[in-house]
Amino acid sequence: MSTVKFMSGETIPLEMHRVRMVQKVNLIPVEERLQAMEDAGFNTFLLKNRDVFLDMLTDSGVNAMSENQYAAMLNADDSYAGSETFYRLERVLQGMFHMPHFLPAHQGRACENILCQTLVKPGSTVLTNYHFTTTLEHIMRNGGEVVEVISDEGLKISSDAPFKGDIDIKKLTEAISRIGKENISFVRIEAGTNLVGGQPVSVKNVRDVSRICKEHGIILIYDASLMADNLYFIKTREVGFENTPIKDIIYELASHMDIIYFSGRKLGAARGGGILTGDHALFVKMRELVPLFEGFLTYGGMSVREMEAMAVGLQETFDFQVISQTPIFVEAMCGELAKVGVPHVTPPGGLGAHLDAGAFCAHIPQTHFPAGALAAALFIASGVRGMERGTLSEKRLADGTQKFAEMELVRLAFPKRVYTFSQVKYTADRLAWLYQNRKLIGGLEFVEEPKVLRFFFGRLKPVGNWPERLAKKFREDFGESL
Ligand code: F0G
Repeated sequence: MSTVKFMSGETIPLEMHRVRMVQKVNLIPVEERLQAMEDAGFNTFLLKNRDVFLDMLTDSGVNAMSENQYAAMLNADDSYAGSETFYRLERVLQGMFHMPHFLPAHQGRACENILCQTLVKPGSTVLTNYHFTTTLEHIMRNGGEVVEVISDEGLKISSDAPFKGDIDIKKLTEAISRIGKENISFVRIEAGTNLVGGQPVSVKNVRDVSRICKEHGIILIYDASLMADNLYFIKTREVGFENTPIKDIIYELASHMDIIYFSGRKLGAARGGGILTGDHALFVKMRELVPLFEGFLTYGGMSVREMEAMAVGLQETFDFQVISQTPIFVEAMCGELAKVGVPHVTPPGGLGAHLDAGAFCAHIPQTHFPAGALAAALFIASGVRGMERGTLSEKRLADGTQKFAEMELVRLAFPKRVYTFSQVKYTADRLAWLYQNRKLIGGLEFVEEPKVLRFFFGRLKPVGNWPERLAKKFREDFGESL
C-alpha cells in the first residue's frame, strides 16, 4: 500500500497490487438485511456470509493470499511425519525470530491452550498489556487470573499517544511486588493489541518490560498474531526506527522474549499457528501436549498446503508494501469518519477501524449492549458485518454479575488486500447516515447466553421494534438504492 496526493491536494491510499481473482458479493435490500439480522439473533457472528456485502468481521483466515503463496501450495510435501514442508516452515520461522525450537498448532488459541496448560498453575496470575478473549479463557480454565497493566492512554478512546498498547512500567513493577514473582506465571505482551483498537507497542517498551522480567526471573511471552501492523507503526511512529530494516526490528523484538506464539490466520496470511522458544526445557514441556491436542510434531493440525502458504506469507511480512496495507486503510477509513463526526478510536491503529459505540449510542445503557446494537444496526443499514468488541465480548464475573467493558467498540476489520477504497467510502457513508439517525438504534437483550465465549453464538433480541423503524427510515431516505 502507498499513499498518493491528487491534484486537488487530497491524499488517498493506493493499492500496490493487482487483483487477479475475485469473489462476487451481493448487497441484498434493506428489508432482507433486517430479516437476516433477525434470523441471526442480532449477533453478527451468526449471519450467513451469503447475506453479507462487506465482511469486516475479522481478518482471521480471510486475508487475500499472494500469487506466490498459491504457487507454494502446489509444492507441498504431504506426510504425517517428517514432511519437507514442515522443515521449510520451521526454517523460515527460525530465520525470522532467531529461535531454534518451533511447535506447530492449528491456530493461535491452540498455542494458548498449550502455553497455559504448561505454565498457568491454579492461583497464579498472568500480567499482560491487555487480554484477548481466548487468552483470558485459557488462563482461567487453568485456574489463573489476568491482571492488565496497559498504559492509561490505552484505555482512552481519543488520544494522540503513538503507542497506546504499551505496558505501564509502574503498574507492572507494582503488580510484581504486590503479587510476588513466584505467583506470576508469565508476562504477556500482545503487539499489536486486539481489544483496545489494534494499538501498537513500542520497541522501547518491550526493552523495558524485558529488563524487568529478567531482573525478577519471570517468563516473557509475545503474542505476535498482530505483529505485521505493529512493525508498520514502529517504522512510522518510533523515533530511530525509520530506516531500520523490518527483519532487524523483528529480531530485536524476538531477542527480548522467552516464548513467541502467533495465529497464522493473521501473521502469515494463511491458516494455522505456532509457538517458538529458545528455551529447551520449556520446549520439551510444551512438546508433550502437541501430539495430544494438535497432531504430530511436524504438522500440528495444519494441512501441508497451509504451511507452505504460511511460510511464504511470513516472508512477505518483510515487505513494507505488504504490512502497510491494513494500517493505511484503517487511517483512510478513520479520516472519512472524522469528516462526518462519527466517533472512533484514535489514533487509528491496525487490524480495523474501531467505532466508539459508547459515544455513538450514548442513549443505550451498557446493560443493553450498545456495541452489539450498533453492529446489528450497521448491518441493517449497509450489509457491512462488523464485530462487537464491548460488554458482550466480556465474561461475567465469578458471582454471575455482568462485567462492563472498559470501552464499547465495534470493529470493522480490514482483511489484507480484500477490499477497495470505494468500499471503504461506501461504509463511511452508511455510517454517517446511521450516526445522523442514531437515536433510532435501541438496545439488545439475551435470549440465549452461552457460558463460555458468549459473543460467538449467543442469541439476542431488540428492546422494542427499533430494527423495523431503522429499516423503514433507510428506505424513505435512500429510495430504491441498495
Ligand atoms: N491473539 C490475538 C491477539 C488474536 O487477535 C487472536 C485472534 C488470537 C490470539 C487467537 O488466534 O483465532 O488463530 O485462534 N483473533 C481473531 C480476531 C479471532 O478476529 O481478532 P486464533
